[in-house]
Amino acid sequence: MTKEFRSVQGFNDILSPEIAKFQHIESVARRCFGLFNFREVRTPVLEQAGLFERSIGTSTDIVEKEMYTFEDKGGERLSLRPEGTAPVARTYIEHNIDKQDALQRWFYIGPMFRHERPQRGRLRQFHQAGVEIFGTDDPFADVETILLADTIISSLAVRDVTARLNSIGCPVCRPAYLKELRSYLGSVRERLCEDCRKRADTNPMRVLDCKKEGCLEATASAPRTTDHLCNDCSGHLSGLRSGLDALKIPYTIDTRLVRGLDYYSRTVFEFAPARDTRAQNAIVAGGRYDYLVELLGGPHTPAIGFAMGIERMAALIDTPVQRGPAVFFVPLSSESRVKAVRLAGVLRHTGRTCEIGYGEKTIKSMLRRADRLGADLVIIIGEEELRDGFVTLKRMSDGTQERVNDADLPDAVGRMKS
Ligand code: HAM
Repeated sequence: MTKEFRSVQGFNDILSPEIAKFQHIESVARRCFGLFNFREVRTPVLEQAGLFERSIGTSTDIVEKEMYTFEDKGGERLSLRPEGTAPVARTYIEHNIDKQDALQRWFYIGPMFRHERPQRGRLRQFHQAGVEIFGTDDPFADVETILLADTIISSLAVRDVTARLNSIGCPVCRPAYLKELRSYLGSVRERLCEDCRKRADTNPMRVLDCKKEGCLEATASAPRTTDHLCNDCSGHLSGLRSGLDALKIPYTIDTRLVRGLDYYSRTVFEFAPARDTRAQNAIVAGGRYDYLVELLGGPHTPAIGFAMGIERMAALIDTPVQRGPAVFFVPLSSESRVKAVRLAGVLRHTGRTCEIGYGEKTIKSMLRRADRLGADLVIIIGEEELRDGFVTLKRMSDGTQERVNDADLPDAVGRMKS
């Protein structure tokens, strides 16, 4: 046997027991999204490349280096989605959602694709659970979005994760800030890394985000966004802060936090493990993007959202205990297998998980499998059981065995399991 095919680098199979973490995270996220009254939206994994180029920005790492973009057979330039916000904004515009009700609260869970260098916490196919609120610039929407992320994190019993936030201004105040920042970066140019020298021209705020020692030192006294906000932006930030303070949601202001996507304005935030200082450590990241819908050709629609990296969250939680089946059937002939299938149907109807033994040749090997799976009960159906309309029910924990009439099986299973 030769293993001719393997999964593509950075594209992982997710199997048991790891899959239990994903299921748990997704079900907790879904429950929290539901409790905050967000509705699910599912968008395709393929979009026109231009959607991301315009939204995320052509001088960002994602668009410059990481998109899976190709021409399809019809010659259309398509990209595997690297993130969920731009597709969801496209959906909002395409379906004229604002005509029904401009205020929308949406969530999504699904795979995203970025051609990054695979390493811990960085995959080429990864999964996000995200939310977007469209149609309001009320700072309380920012508070609620951050509260929702915080609620998911604490519902997953993940501790020592801290929220950092910043305001990066708006088209009114940002140009003057960028001018000042550019001139500052010009004065420390020689001390910046090669990437940052380029960024200083194309996307200067990203220089503040560089984790390299030299760049951190060179930008220690760089102008800060929060010192250059217009009245509206600074009022918005105070509204957000007083909401978080009143609700006792912990956060720190980090004036270096700028995020790697161009569509943001005002609030940006990230949640990351407090003791982890690696660059790629955010488990939840998001912010406001009040001009994106307009930039994509829609009506002016302020919006805010976040996305949680499911793989990064999975690295922080324990594997949930996986329960075996409630009942494992051991049929000793092909006729008794038909009876087993029928009785399993009855028990499944009452919510009991059942598996029927086959493949294993002997009663001993079937019992071994029941034990390996962690079944609570075993139901043996031999010739006598078939003829006289009963089964032999055995509790695996203590070996207790009972003869039970077919009709009494659901009750007996309930009794034996408790
Ligand atoms: P992002 O910061 O690019 O933002 O990604 C959000 C989260 O996805 C990250 O914090 C991380 O947990 C996870 N993530 C990103 N790239 C990878 C990767 N290569 N491997 C594993 N996990 C990864 C966005 O995507 C925005 N759309 C978030 C948003 C929603 N902003 C507003 N609404």
